[in-house]
Amino acid sequence: MERKNGMAGGNKGGTLGDETRATHAGNHPHRNHGVINPPVYRASTILYPDVAALEQVNKDRLSRTAYGRYGTPTVSALEEAVTALEGGGRAIVLSSGLAAITATLMQHLSAGDHLLMVDTVYGPARGFCDKVLAKFGVEVTYYDPLIGGAVAELIRPRTRIVYMEAPGSLTFEMQDIPAIVRAAHQAGALAMMDNTWATPLYFKPFSHGVDIIVHAATKYIVGHADVMMGIVVCRDELYRPLKLGIHGLGHGASPDDCYLAIRGLRTLPVRLARNGENALALAHWLKQRPEVARVMHPALPDDPGHGIWKRDFAGSSGLFGIVLHPCPPGALAAMLDGMRLFGMGASWGGYESLMLPVNPAASRTATKWDAAGPTLRLHAGLELIDDLIADLEDGFARLAAAKT
Ligand SMILES: Cc1ncc(COP(=O)(O)O)c(C=O)c1O
Repeated sequence: MERKNGMAGGNKGGTLGDETRATHAGNHPHRNHGVINPPVYRASTILYPDVAALEQVNKDRLSRTAYGRYGTPTVSALEEAVTALEGGGRAIVLSSGLAAITATLMQHLSAGDHLLMVDTVYGPARGFCDKVLAKFGVEVTYYDPLIGGAVAELIRPRTRIVYMEAPGSLTFEMQDIPAIVRAAHQAGALAMMDNTWATPLYFKPFSHGVDIIVHAATKYIVGHADVMMGIVVCRDELYRPLKLGIHGLGHGASPDDCYLAIRGLRTLPVRLARNGENALALAHWLKQRPEVARVMHPALPDDPGHGIWKRDFAGSSGLFGIVLHPCPPGALAAMLDGMRLFGMGASWGGYESLMLPVNPAASRTATKWDAAGPTLRLHAGLELIDDLIADLEDGFARLAAAKT
């Protein structure tokens, strides 16, 4: 991190807090005329001053800015910032969270290999396993997110990756990451994790032994619902083949989008704290409502995943789920159609609140989802909590009116 007027030396031990890293990491103002934010370097062609420089790049494409797809200094600035927050390794930026997942899996798996995939993985990643990996002869076994160290019993000689996501997509189960990582490593497999929900601020996968971290930066890192982006962060020794493999597949990221992602990252700690605070307040409020059968939020003391969350995570973000008591589809539609503040749409992690009906049963094979009533995924935005509660209160009134 670059010193600014001698001010950015860090605290006494020389280590910086996450808030400080999020504020400064990746900025090099004095390489850019004193401009604070990394400028947008747009490029496809990169010119070399002489044959010697060209030959050097041909020998090692990662040694300098070589071609637009490999990333310009704007892309590198984002990679540097995310690496600083994850506490090490090397980062690679791609054009979506799903691309980060699929390209990393493709790079590490070959025909005949075996992947252990958590049953509660983000749905389209599951689709990739079933449709694409299967086509290329990779076997996939889905495992119960609550399996813990017993995942060892599912590991085969050709298991290359044990993949985790915590909490689980749509249903928010917590995973015992250290126990699963231990089992993977004992068998010589890599431990890979989707850390989108917690962001690097609330969970540090590297400190728990994870080898490869993926982020849908589309969510909290960008934070404004206006950019698609994925980031892989891996241990140093995995970086070179992964970077070459990812760009060999043709992936890259737009410098303009990386500029916006860096801008989002600067306010991540304050936004995430507010998202988390609003989500927890909503979760507590919803637990008291007669229409709600169940609230799925690991920071609630009576949530089944609370013990693991408390042990391993430093905070909770804005996404959680609820199950309603059974009601006619028309009544649910009356509630959802009339929401003033909660938008209905995919993605999450922006400044705004969202509420979406979801169907976990459609994407589970190792476990069963048999909730009797509808499941909703909520994202708490940055609005005033009283306004969000009033919107939900009105929604429940519409639901009740439509039932009668
Ligand atoms: C947990 C999780 N991982 C990955 C993704 C994929 O990210 P993207 O939409 O940027 O492809 C999503 C998207 O919703 C997600 O929720």
